[in-house]
Amino acid sequence: MIKNDSEISGFFDFKILYDQIAEQIPNGSRFAEVGVFRGASLCYLASKVKELGKTNCQFYAIDIWKGRSDQNIFFANCIEYGVAEMIRPIRALSSIALLHFPANYLFSVMIDGDHRENQTVKDVKMSLHRTTDIVCGHDIHLPSVRRAVDKTIGEGNYDIIGNCWIYRKM
Ligand SMILES: C[S@@+](CC[C@H](N)C(=O)[O-])C[C@H]1O[C@@H](n2cnc3c(N)ncnc32)[C@H](O)[C@@H]1O
Repeated sequence: MIKNDSEISGFFDFKILYDQIAEQIPNGSRFAEVGVFRGASLCYLASKVKELGKTNCQFYAIDIWKGRSDQNIFFANCIEYGVAEMIRPIRALSSIALLHFPANYLFSVMIDGDHRENQTVKDVKMSLHRTTDIVCGHDIHLPSVRRAVDKTIGEGNYDIIGNCWIYRKM
């Protein structure tokens, strides 16, 4: 059952974007979120996808989880939302974690980790190579993120939904 998204503390203000992705993701495909924190956004997406009957999707949760307690809260939230079996946590820097996915392995990546320009450029480039359909990210209002997305995707080649950017490959 989907709980109210305000029930997990975090930075989740992109329900509209995740509702679209939940509708579009094909059953059996894979999604990665870079920067998961306590799981507010990823638990919402996975439970929405589960509600739509696409129970064979896999969600990679990438985070450094500097604070162990945030990682434990994330695990507890996955269980509480009934999505633990769909989620694979990877505790690593995004540039290490993303290396492990082959080209076109993921349907989509959401980038909400280290928002500095150089790191965002790396995350976007690595995600473009590994996805078939969608690369998106949070905090486009930050100048560092905006510059990184303009450099990699190109100004005018992506859409804005709330505080997120989204690039559809097809
Ligand atoms: C803004 S929070 C994510 C919020 C989450 N998406 C939500 O909606 O609640 C950013 C997270 O990114 C993680 N992070 C920062 N730099 C990272 C990196 N280089 N690789 C992986 N995770 C990183 C932090 O540990 C933190 O949990």
